[in-house]
Amino acid sequence: MKPLIRPRRIRALVSVLSAAAAVAGAALLVPRPAQAAGTLGAQAAASGRYFGTAVAAGKLGDSTYSTILDREFNMITPENEMKWDTIEPSRGSFNFGPADQIVNHAQAHGQRMRGHTLVWHSQLPGWVSGINDPNTLRSVMDNHITTEMTHYKGKIYAWDVVNEAFADGSTQHRSSVFQNVLGNGFIEEAFRTARTADPNAKLCYNDYNIENWTDAKTQGVYAMVKDFKARGVPIDCVGFQSHFGSGGPPASFQTTLSNFAALGVDVQLTELDIAQAPATAYSNTVKACVNISRCAGITVWGIRDSDSWRSGENPLLFDGGGNKKPAYDAVLSALGSGVPYGGDGSPTPTPTPTPPGNGGCSVKYTISSQWPGGFGANVSVTNLGDPVSSWTLTWSFGAGQQVTQAWNAAVTQSGSAVTAKNVSYNGSLATGGSTSFGFNGSWNSSSNPVPSNFALNGTACTAG
Ligand code: G3I
Repeated sequence: MKPLIRPRRIRALVSVLSAAAAVAGAALLVPRPAQAAGTLGAQAAASGRYFGTAVAAGKLGDSTYSTILDREFNMITPENEMKWDTIEPSRGSFNFGPADQIVNHAQAHGQRMRGHTLVWHSQLPGWVSGINDPNTLRSVMDNHITTEMTHYKGKIYAWDVVNEAFADGSTQHRSSVFQNVLGNGFIEEAFRTARTADPNAKLCYNDYNIENWTDAKTQGVYAMVKDFKARGVPIDCVGFQSHFGSGGPPASFQTTLSNFAALGVDVQLTELDIAQAPATAYSNTVKACVNISRCAGITVWGIRDSDSWRSGENPLLFDGGGNKKPAYDAVLSALGSGVPYGGDGSPTPTPTPTPPGNGGCSVKYTISSQWPGGFGANVSVTNLGDPVSSWTLTWSFGAGQQVTQAWNAAVTQSGSAVTAKNVSYNGSLATGGSTSFGFNGSWNSSSNPVPSNFALNGTACTAG
């Protein structure tokens, strides 16, 4: 009997079907290419990556600008509009208008967004840089992160949670109000707060001059990411700004990307521009990314040379008239080389699950010092329920302990029952937000057990 389909036809059918299956599978992982074939966005999407640009809201009305934007780019970073001085110019007063304009444009044109940036020493209003009380600054920082991320929840692919926190030529953090008032832990605090605010956004640390593997600054950031990964501090990606001189990237750039990726984070080129835009320098940069499977995408820092913060150096892919420069063709061709993007494609991990019911809280009670008849304790409270604007934490002592003096909370005691209320500056606790207070107390010198029956605003807490 004649086969219904001849072997050659079967082979052809199999290859058509497997191509269709690959496309279907890829569609789950790869953003819908909004751009036509032969453009930067489409070429990057072919390997599962994105190609983005910085955008200024004020230029969206320029038709040359927006035509190139929508034809070529499938990722957008607001150049200035999501920075602190624009978003929260005075405490608690949020101005999302300019950034909303960009996000709306992106949504209307099938483009994704990188959020830039939540915590940065620069473009920071004076009311923040003047804060010198740690509790105030912590609550201001956490509130800024939570409010901005909540406003854009579900609309941002990745956030630059902390930007440029390391000092030039050093393994150490730079001086900033965050570093000076909150200490080294501010970066970790920012990332933990960010994960809670939008569990599905990728959380990046972003910096410049971390492209050369042997530079001290690169090593400092690498050590931080390694430490975060080891301790479970949520971090998903590292942004390499990639503002290069005319020589392009350092020879070790690909090694750097590969070493960071091996820590289990995506790497991204976030603000690429190269003095004089030599085609070879651009090509080398793009190849360093596409040769690394966890390099998720590339963003150039502006569209035309005239849009650049370094406009005197003509560092971009389009000239002032919007014409493609030789570097454009070099980038297009380099995007076609390399390996497919191999990030896990799965949603980012969710934060510590909240217990059933209304969430409750978790409390860590630490006896920091103890002497005959007296002791000092620190109490750290994390709100696992809905956000609150004031809180009361209660517990009872089991062995006659008595609070004698407290700070960062107003504490009263009746018999064994203790009531701690927030003070004026630490009443707001976002979901996942923490605060701490301390007290000195007396004890009977034979036993000083840690209390276990904490409740926050009447809801039982778990001891942490
Ligand atoms: O909006 C005001 C305008 O009202 C005023 O008349 C004008 C006068 O100078 O200034 C305008 O603000 C400028 C703003 O860009 C918007 O154009 C600021 O002065 C200027 O300092 C600001 O520069 C931005 C710079 O960050 C600030 O640090 C650049 O556009 C922006 O490209 C640049 O981007 C940074 C990244 O965020 C982080 N990495 C480095 C990168 C390059 O510096």
